[in-house]
Amino acid sequence: MYDFSFQSPVKSMAGRGKFRSIGEFTGSKKILLISDKIISSMAFYGEIKELLKGRIAGEFAGVMPNPECEMVDEAVTLCKSCGADCVIGIGGGSVLDTAKAVAVLSCEEGKTADYMAGKALGRHRQELILVPTTAGTGSEVTNVSVLTDPKINKKLSLVDPILYGDIAIIDPCLTETMPKRVAAASGFDALCHAIEAYWNIRTSPLCEALSMEAVDKIVKNIYPACNGDGDAQEEMVIASYIAGISFNQTRTTVCHAISYKLTSDYGIDHGLACAFTLIPFLRYESEDPAVKAALDRMGRYCGFSGSEALIDEIDRLYDAVGLPRHLSDRGVKPEDVDAIVDAGMAVPITKLCKREVTREAMHRIITDLL
Ligand SMILES: NC(=O)c1ccc[n+]([C@@H]2O[C@H](COP(=O)([O-])OP(=O)(O)OC[C@H]3O[C@@H](n4cnc5c(N)ncnc54)[C@H](O)[C@@H]3O)[C@@H](O)[C@H]2O)c1
Ligand SMILES: [Fe+2]
Repeated sequence: MYDFSFQSPVKSMAGRGKFRSIGEFTGSKKILLISDKIISSMAFYGEIKELLKGRIAGEFAGVMPNPECEMVDEAVTLCKSCGADCVIGIGGGSVLDTAKAVAVLSCEEGKTADYMAGKALGRHRQELILVPTTAGTGSEVTNVSVLTDPKINKKLSLVDPILYGDIAIIDPCLTETMPKRVAAASGFDALCHAIEAYWNIRTSPLCEALSMEAVDKIVKNIYPACNGDGDAQEEMVIASYIAGISFNQTRTTVCHAISYKLTSDYGIDHGLACAFTLIPFLRYESEDPAVKAALDRMGRYCGFSGSEALIDEIDRLYDAVGLPRHLSDRGVKPEDVDAIVDAGMAVPITKLCKREVTREAMHRIITDLL
């Protein structure tokens, strides 16, 4: 019996060079551009500024990875003072999540931390255009903004339909400058999104189809994309977008649940923090016959004999793109495992896995990764 809903309201414009039409996607004459230090120094950013000449009310290029609420407040203040009625975020997930929050909170009076503590977001926002430069988070099509409150040292998600953008521009010209390290980590983030939406108790035939297509593209293209192949980079940015639509319906699960503490306490990049536990949880989930049958189907869709061959290929790709294997290299000590498990078990999305994740299983998996 089916029981699901599906919503994906963001108008998406995808294709090589699509970013050059950015001026046609909004009528605004008071645009706030949001980016970071690296993106604002890129040639494509200069080109976008030129294309929007005379229509830019302000620029905020101060987004840091894993955006913090006070930084968002700063951008909100700028948005209000320059009178912008359209926010364009150009960057990775950190920039897009900031742009989403700014578009909404600039129509409000409260501080970002208030909303992260549970205050309801308002029903208005500025026009919002999201332009990803990583492949990636899928944030361009999700209703989520992931922010950090440094006072409680926690990553938290604002989740609300008001956070959907109006338009997403998905253009491989913008991801080709990613350093290999970022391409590998963000590519595995997209892989986690696709797989976590697939083994999810909220999955649906639509999500399964989207996730299988995203995984097929990622396993075939992540390695050449990380090594500069333009066609593979194009496949990766589309795969990330497709995976974004899929997990936006279901939310993510255990790999993301564990990642939050790995990022906030050990400074591990989001994509890598999720990737660390993907392969062991793939093996764990596939010990359940129903999940194995589903993963076998995904494996065959991707041209493998079944789930084992697919998991082995993901395992091989993990090393091939240069992701590290050991949490101890990132400062995690044996005595830290209990606290990581406590945090991972406490995040509600852990319960969305089809095969229940027990505390013992999580403990063993994290210990094995030391
Ligand atoms: N909202 C969502 O649905 C969602 C989903 C997954 C992750 N996230 C969040 O997104 C953030 C991670 O985003 P990310 O992985 O895209 O990384 P990021 O945005 O933090 O960027 C990482 C680094 O790569 C650089 N970079 C980005 N694009 C580049 C390019 N084309 N060329 C050169 N350098 C480039 C950035 O300047 C930055 O230094 C985390 O905070 C995570 O929690 C959000
Ligand atoms: Fe993610």
